[in-house]
Parts: sequence; structure tokens; C-alpha cells
Amino acid sequence: EGYFTYDPGFMSTASCESSITYIDGAKGVLLHRGYPIDELAEKRDYLDVCYLLLNGELPNDIEKRDFHRTVMRHTMVHEQMHDFFKGFRRDSHPMAIMVGVVGALSAFYHDSLDITNDRHREIAATRLISKMPTLAAMAYKYSIGQPFTYPRNDLSYGGNFLHMMFSNPCEKYYVSPTLARAMDKIFILHADHEQNASTSTVRLAGSSGANPFACIASGIAALWGPAHGGANEAVLNMLEEIGDVSNIDEYIARAKDKNDPFRLMGFGHRVYKNYDPRAKVMKETADEVLSELGITDDPLLNVARRLEQIALEDPYFVEKKLYPNVDFYSGIIFKALGIPTSMFTVLFAVGRTPGWIAHWKEMISGPYRIGRPRQLYSGEPTREVKE
Ligand code: CMC
Repeated sequence: EGYFTYDPGFMSTASCESSITYIDGAKGVLLHRGYPIDELAEKRDYLDVCYLLLNGELPNDIEKRDFHRTVMRHTMVHEQMHDFFKGFRRDSHPMAIMVGVVGALSAFYHDSLDITNDRHREIAATRLISKMPTLAAMAYKYSIGQPFTYPRNDLSYGGNFLHMMFSNPCEKYYVSPTLARAMDKIFILHADHEQNASTSTVRLAGSSGANPFACIASGIAALWGPAHGGANEAVLNMLEEIGDVSNIDEYIARAKDKNDPFRLMGFGHRVYKNYDPRAKVMKETADEVLSELGITDDPLLNVARRLEQIALEDPYFVEKKLYPNVDFYSGIIFKALGIPTSMFTVLFAVGRTPGWIAHWKEMISGPYRIGRPRQLYSGEPTREVKE
């Protein structure tokens, strides 16, 4: 049989052709459909970016109104989903719940499973973007034993999410426009990142013809690991463990020690060998949120700032081009907003949903084949089974 190249970890293999997102890792550039990420985060809202990723262009006023209306109209989930949640242990990790409930959407919405039908594909895409924040907030409410909060379609996408997280029947949460905007920005910064592990997983699952809900559930599962989306949770745990600026040197030494598996969470990236452009916006957003909330002297933030400063100057990190990545500052914002650490990766999943769908849609809209990597077999040669 023919030859194939061996490329563990896909260090040099392009798995597809795509016109959605461009990254220049050496220069620290990230473009969605040609638009720089920082400009999108500054000038547009999250649903505009979802529209852009899915359709290739930013929406005009009418398209924007229609898209926003459609997405916000489908925010509720089937009431039976409430019972489905109740099957989980009450101390389940919210990512475990998300893998389950998003996959289960395929059992609830039979009118969006036919991937050869344009209408089905459209409905599935909208439903996923509409319902992800609802499911995420439900996973949180379930974990703290509070009743689910229904969505409010008059709020912005980010504002509605905060409402569902923090309102309860006894107390309505005031959604500050600054915090709602910050939430929206965070979602924008996570919206897509070309062929990362979870997006490649979605494409691979989709290449078999699996339905969109099943594909996105597979993406959520792949995102969970600490080397990928799970890093934002790991960053906060690490900052808490470091605890004080005076302990940083010890952790830096551990990160550099070849015999110690410890890594500085929130640093390094397979593609970026320069400052992650999303981390820049995330840092500014962190400053906005902390100033809105009147948090001036946060110990974790002090540890984070000092850690970043040291890492940017230390020869080990400089030579290996290990810059802070998107996950480094997002955790600080989430913490300031009162979002528990276990929800951090869930928020990454909510933000990444349009990217996953855009890639799935792009793939199944063109000619594609089932993804089927080969291997180098290193096991036993043929041997006889003894009786
Ligand atoms: N702390 C200390 N050393 C590091 C780190 C780190 N965070 N990251 C990489 N290195 C070292 C690593 O030990 C290796 O050294 P050597 O060449 O001497 O063996 C070198 O840098 C290259 O690392 P690698 O693991 O071969 O690089 P990779 O491209 O396979 O991994 C990464 C990329 C993001 C998994 C890795 O940098 C990492 O584990 N970072 C910490 C976790 C993290 O922040 N993940 C979030 C990534 S961004 C968002 C996302 O994708 O979800």
C-alpha cells in the first residue's frame, strides 16, 4: 500500500481548506473573514461576529435585526430538557453536563437533523447559538441548587447570559451595560480559531455525516482538556495556588524544570509565537470590568500581572516564545463577575459555538470525504493463536 507522512500532533499537516479564519502566528495576527479580531471586538457585537463567521460577511442593518431577532427568539429550551438535567448528579462538573445536554438536543429537535437539507442546517445553527447560553446557565443553576432562570429576549446576548446566571425568583440581577458588553467581547474573542483541537474534532465527527448537535457535543468534549479550553480554569487554580507575588519565583523555576511536569497555565500556543492578539483585548477588558466593579487591589490580579511581566522577560519563556494566551486573562474577568471556576470552560464553549458551526457548515457544503487518518503500526507481527 502507498506511502503516507507521519505527523503526530498535526505539526505540519493541513487537514482542510477553509476561508473562515486566518492566523499568522509569527506576527500575532488573527482575522475572521479578513477582519482583525481587535477591531471586531471593539466595533461589533457578538451576534454580528456569529453572522460573519456563518455567512462570510458582516450583516447590514436589516440582516442584523433579523438575525438578532431569530437568535433571541429561540433562547428557550424544551421544558423536557429540565427533567434531563435532573438526571445528573448535583455535583457534576458543568462541562460533563454540557457534553450530555448538547448531544441530547438531537433527541429533542428532529426538524434540524437532516444535514442534506439547507433549512435543517440553518435551524440547527441558530438553535445552537440561541440555546448554548441557556444550557450553560442551567448547568450552573443546577449545580448550586437554584431553579433555572428563563432567558430574557429583550437583553443583549451577553446581558441575557448574565441574567440567567445570576437572577433568581427572589432577586432580579441588574445587568450593567458595561458588564454585558464585556461578556459579549469575551464571547467574540473565543468565537473561532481555525483548526484547533475542538474544531478539528467537530469537522472529523461531521465528516461521517453525524448530526450537528452530536458534532458540537464532540467539540465540547475535546475542548474540556487543560491543554485547550480547560486552561482558563487551570489558570485560575494556578493563580490561587501561587497565592502571593512572593511565591512566583518558585513556580517560574518549576515551569523551567524539565523534570517537573508543571507548566505555566495560560502561556504558550501551538500557533502563536508572538503575543496572542486576543490576550491584548482580554487584558483591556479585564481592566474595564475591574474598574466598573471597583476592584483595585485584587491579589490574584497582582500575581497575574507580575507573572506576565516575569515571563515576558525571562530567557526561558522568551527563547521558547511562550507568550500569554487568551486563557490567561479571561479567568480573572470571570472571577470578578462572580462566575465560578468550574464554569470557565463552559463559557469558552458558548463563545466557540459559531466557529464550530461555521466549520461544520463549510465542510458539509462543499465536496468532502470522511476524515480517516492513517497510522504507523508498531504492534506484534502476525502470530498464531495457540489453543
Ligand atoms: N510553561 C512552561 N513551559 C512550556 C509551556 C508552559 N506553559 N508551554 C510550552 N512549554 C515548553 C515545553 O516544555 C517545550 O519545551 P522543550 O522544547 O524544551 O521540550 C516547548 O515549550 C514547546 O512546548 P510544546 O508542548 O511542544 O508545544 P505545543 O505546541 O505542543 O503545546 C500548548 C502548546 C498550548 C499545549 C502548551 O504551550 C501548553 O501546555 N500551555 C499551557 C496550557 C495552556 O495555556 N493552554 C491554552 C492554549 S490557548 C487556548 C486554547 O487552545 O484553548
